[in-house]
Amino acid sequence: MAILEVQNLTKNFGGLTALNDVSFKVGEGQIHGLIGPNGAGKSTMFKNIAGFYTPTRGDILFEGKSIKGQTPSRISMSGIVRTFQETTLFHEMTVFENVLVGTHNRSRTNIFSAIIGLDRLIQQQARTSAMKVLEFMGLGDRKHQLASELPLGSQRALAIAIALVSEPKLMLMDEPFAGMNPEETRGMMQLTRKVRESGVTIVLVEHDMKAVMGLCDQLTVLNFGTLLAGGSPEQVRNNPDVINAYLGGSHHV
Ligand SMILES: Nc1ncnc2c1ncn2[C@@H]1O[C@H](COP(=O)(O)OP(=O)(O)OP(=O)(O)O)[C@@H](O)[C@H]1O
Ligand SMILES: [Mg+2]
Repeated sequence: MAILEVQNLTKNFGGLTALNDVSFKVGEGQIHGLIGPNGAGKSTMFKNIAGFYTPTRGDILFEGKSIKGQTPSRISMSGIVRTFQETTLFHEMTVFENVLVGTHNRSRTNIFSAIIGLDRLIQQQARTSAMKVLEFMGLGDRKHQLASELPLGSQRALAIAIALVSEPKLMLMDEPFAGMNPEETRGMMQLTRKVRESGVTIVLVEHDMKAVMGLCDQLTVLNFGTLLAGGSPEQVRNNPDVINAYLGGSHHV
């Protein structure tokens, strides 16, 4: 079953067409790669799915229902989270505090819960789930460190931990491997698989072809905002259009 279905999506910015009539489906429980050269429209696709942009045309179905035009907070409440291409950690806060901030996506305390003493309970639950997620991502020992003190691999793991604490069904990951050395890449591949095994479907935008080919069940290839190819990593690797338009350049599969 498709957990996410993008139907004929077009996104215009003034005269520029960043996405042009793109359709693809993401199967539940899969790691689905969304690849393509710089400027192909990958991050724009994520921003449309997450509600930061409204599609010009087309539709986006999550669990069979349209989410087009919904606010980012409503979309995240229904179970879609995004990790960002640019770093979004609070560098002067500890690892634990960073994840605690992520719990506010789902638990809203208010004056009534304060009166009946519920907010203390909610805060306790938030701390417990923050700690659980940190352990899961292998960051338990680093919880008191400042985010700025972490090596790159752990900073990326923390960004995923923050996304995970809201208990998503679908995670949109934008270039989690960028700038990593081979050892960090291996670690992040293991973590990505672990997240999927916990029941979260993943859409992965990534230029690191080793990571993409090693992780993904299915691929969607964009080029200049249009759908170039789709299929298994093997099919995409051997598709002449992909080789010419994308992989023939400085990229290698
Ligand atoms: N807010 C915006 N306003 C105008 N143009 C935009 C906007 N956001 C993106 N674009 C344009 O849309 C196109 C697609 O950009 P996008 O960031 O989605 O590419 P990408 O595939 O994520 O590239 P990269 O691999 O470099 O991250 C580019 O031509 C970009 O300049
Ligand atoms: Mg991008």
